[in-house]
Amino acid sequence: MKYKLSFKQGQFINISDRFSAFIGGVRSGKSFAGTVKGIKFARRRKSIGAVIAPTYPMIRDVLIPLWQELLPAKFVKKYSRSEHKLWLKNGSVVLFRSAEIPERLYGLTLHWFHIDEAATLPRRVWDIMMSRVISTRGYGFITTTPNGHNWVYELVKSGEISSVFAKTSDNPLIDPVEIERARKILDSKFFRQQYEASFEAYLGQVYDDFGERNIVPIVPHADLPTYIAADFGWRHPTALVWAQVDQENNIMLFDEVVESFLTPDAIAKIIRGEKVRLPSGKIFKSKIPIGMIREIITGFEASQSRQESGGLAIIDILGDEGIRNIRTVGGSIVRGIFDVRAKILSAEGEPHLFVDPHCERLISDFRGYHYPENAKGIASELPEKDNIHDHTMDAVRYLITALTDRKKEWTI
Ligand SMILES: Nc1ncnc2c1ncn2[C@@H]1O[C@H](COP(=O)(O)OP(=O)(O)OP(=O)(O)O)[C@@H](O)[C@H]1O
Ligand SMILES: [Mg+2]
Repeated sequence: MKYKLSFKQGQFINISDRFSAFIGGVRSGKSFAGTVKGIKFARRRKSIGAVIAPTYPMIRDVLIPLWQELLPAKFVKKYSRSEHKLWLKNGSVVLFRSAEIPERLYGLTLHWFHIDEAATLPRRVWDIMMSRVISTRGYGFITTTPNGHNWVYELVKSGEISSVFAKTSDNPLIDPVEIERARKILDSKFFRQQYEASFEAYLGQVYDDFGERNIVPIVPHADLPTYIAADFGWRHPTALVWAQVDQENNIMLFDEVVESFLTPDAIAKIIRGEKVRLPSGKIFKSKIPIGMIREIITGFEASQSRQESGGLAIIDILGDEGIRNIRTVGGSIVRGIFDVRAKILSAEGEPHLFVDPHCERLISDFRGYHYPENAKGIASELPEKDNIHDHTMDAVRYLITALTDRKKEWTI
């Protein structure tokens, strides 16, 4: 195949340092660049090299096809499908391995290695591969999208590895319309990580874009669909959040109840719009009659919560009370958090989630929900279940997971 490298790919392939990295956005041409660099090593002189990917399907569906496309057949002696091993006519050997069981990578002696999507792997894989090129004074290179402040970030920051950064837009083959579409549906931090190859830290406040622009007085409208987002608990409080969604898919959170020791009977009354004295002594009456509640949305685990006496799950008790429009959502917590982040502030800079100023608990939870102290700063970590901020935040996440149109979803 005849091809022309992008400017950034060319820079990466020409790095002569022993250890190098192509830090790129999604579709920026990472796997392609790594393959061209591997082929350069394999063709230059008789050598043994290894191509590593996080999973076997990535080896089979991405990297081997790229080698087939980019290495002209005239240089190839043979390829063993069962061993995933390639012999070149010049005597070079290339091994294709998944990193699923890193220990299996011991025992190789290599002149070079390439790790694709390295930032999704544990540092141990890098350390093992480094140990494989010590005796040969060999070369190692990684091609990856950043993944928070993990070991790849450390290597790049400390200068142990020479790096080239490429945005998705640096690949001339990518339609800019696709990038603009992503900017609308992703939050800014995740967009910067995935499309601009920026090392973003997932540390501290989970919803760090939540700000004054998200706090506005909300008057519920009779003609908009109303939902109650719920996280049920007993000693751990039950959180109920009333929300409306407008034509532009803006989410308006306008009422809240967060209370420990709420009996199923009290929960049913609250949902029905009756006046209730809460365990804290507050009097609450919902602004919305039950007939206007389209759905009560909760998580699977929460729906199975048993109130004070053991026995029936809350979802069944409410069902017996005639409250049956309850939807239980599942799905990945991490993805749900990204959906909430994108509502708080899209990468375009627009808020799509609003909280009424009297919902003090919600506001303080948006501000206080945080990652654990010892977090590594990677996107796949879960926030701290501190039993303070997580209840309303779980409820809001269930709601937004339920409302997010999966057809528009992004993939990593
Ligand atoms: N220099 C090039 N010449 C021709 N096609 C290229 C070049 N670089 C990349 N491509 C093509 O652009 C697309 C994206 O490249 P590649 O798969 O290497 O990107 P990636 O960053 O690894 O993407 P992903 O994030 O999906 O892993 C592929 O179809 C690839 O064949
Ligand atoms: Mg790739």
